[in-house]
Amino acid sequence: AATRIAVVVVAALAAFAPGARGLRRDDFPAGFLFGAATSAYQIEGAYLDDNKGLNNWDVFTHTQAGRISDRRNGDVADDHYHRYTEDVEILHNLGVNSYRFSISWARILPRGRFGGVNSAGIAFYNRLIDALLQKGIQPFVTLNHFDIPQELEIRYGGWLGAGIREEFGYYSDVCFKAFGDRVRFWTTFNEPNLITKFQFMLGAYPPNRCSPPFGSCNSGDSRREPYTAAHNILLSHAAAVHNYKTNYQAKQGGSIGIVIAMKWYEPLTNSTEDVRAARRALAFEVDWFLDPIFFGKYPREMREILSSNLPKFTPEEKKLLQNKVDFIGINQYTAIYAKDCIYSPCALNTYEGNALVYTTGVRNGAKIGKPTAFSTYFVVPKSIESAVMYVNGRYKDTTIYITENGYSQHSDTNMEDLINDVERVNYLQGYLKYLSSAVRKGANVGGYFMWSLIDNFEWVFGYTIKFGLYHVDFDTQERIPKMSAKWYRDFLTGSNLTD
Ligand code: NOJ
Repeated sequence: AATRIAVVVVAALAAFAPGARGLRRDDFPAGFLFGAATSAYQIEGAYLDDNKGLNNWDVFTHTQAGRISDRRNGDVADDHYHRYTEDVEILHNLGVNSYRFSISWARILPRGRFGGVNSAGIAFYNRLIDALLQKGIQPFVTLNHFDIPQELEIRYGGWLGAGIREEFGYYSDVCFKAFGDRVRFWTTFNEPNLITKFQFMLGAYPPNRCSPPFGSCNSGDSRREPYTAAHNILLSHAAAVHNYKTNYQAKQGGSIGIVIAMKWYEPLTNSTEDVRAARRALAFEVDWFLDPIFFGKYPREMREILSSNLPKFTPEEKKLLQNKVDFIGINQYTAIYAKDCIYSPCALNTYEGNALVYTTGVRNGAKIGKPTAFSTYFVVPKSIESAVMYVNGRYKDTTIYITENGYSQHSDTNMEDLINDVERVNYLQGYLKYLSSAVRKGANVGGYFMWSLIDNFEWVFGYTIKFGLYHVDFDTQERIPKMSAKWYRDFLTGSNLTD
């Protein structure tokens, strides 16, 4: 089967080549990082191996399988824990110079601070980091990508409890100490702006808390809890950055940042109200986390609308927060229309609900971009330039990494289209063109990571959504390069195909 697929890919690439004109590796600065991204729970598997503790996603997928599209879980996933050498090899074949992955907290500290450090967990990431460096691939490490030890979920209610701040401080310190001599790029959190809403507003991710009209449960308080959890995450982040800057950075020479999910919002109409709604949606998504880090306070729009539901920082916390990050990571996939819900009536039971903004992908019957397997993600290449220019302007030229960007297909797509993923190639090429345009306009962009290296466990969508550059046969664990993997390699190595 693999040979047949290879033949199809080569044929399709030949047909495709003319469309690839005009984009070159040289359109980006010399030291630019080009990589691919993954996260621990989504690929590692080995959920009980070598003393790993259970985490919130292990427990959630086992106890509430009905909430996952295909009722599956990350017990085995891509079996990366056992196949990491092969995965380093495919990274090497792609020609990337960096790899973004996350550390499983429960592998390092199976029960948080309530148990010891698991030396087998440390050993695994040491092996992975060393294997990457041997191939000249820089590790770009996320400390928290959604998964936390179950012990902390139980003890603190996850990010809702202030006690978890010290846990994160301890965990990050263990990681800096163990791996910091070789890791140049650290990020504290992946998409805290998204998970807090999915955990505490919509009730979709563990611990599944929400209240009407936002989610279909009545176990929490959707108007308040996302902001309490975010507050604890921000202070956990700040403590880790402070520790890194004070005790590690000078001798280890690395850098540290945070990763925010960032859609771009286009006003649905050109009315002042909708223009302000689009701006407000960004405040509730991006400024929510970056303003406290850069300016020591939440954005004005949030303070006005949420008033006492938004926690406040004490003077000491403000000081701690302004331990400057070295860079900002943004995960950028799409754009969506924003409509005002303050001056005009509309449904508020959406993700952007608390911002009093309604979002839609359709205007006058026309979609904002081609649809993808994710119903709220459309192909809007220019959104990456708009997002980068916004962050570059508001946070004063801080280095930006595109820590994720990618295209999804549904698993029920036929095999030939999954492998001959022309749409993904077009997507990547389109977004990279607009990213290079942002660079030309002077934005300080340091690198770009494709989500994802391999098809993997897509959270509540299980294995039904595929983002990989490599197809994975989950029966045999065979990794098969898609057309996009070959396109990326050719782009990075400057072969004829992209001339
Ligand atoms: C966001 C998350 O960081 C990642 O875990 C997820 O799989 C992708 N983007 C695609 O949704």
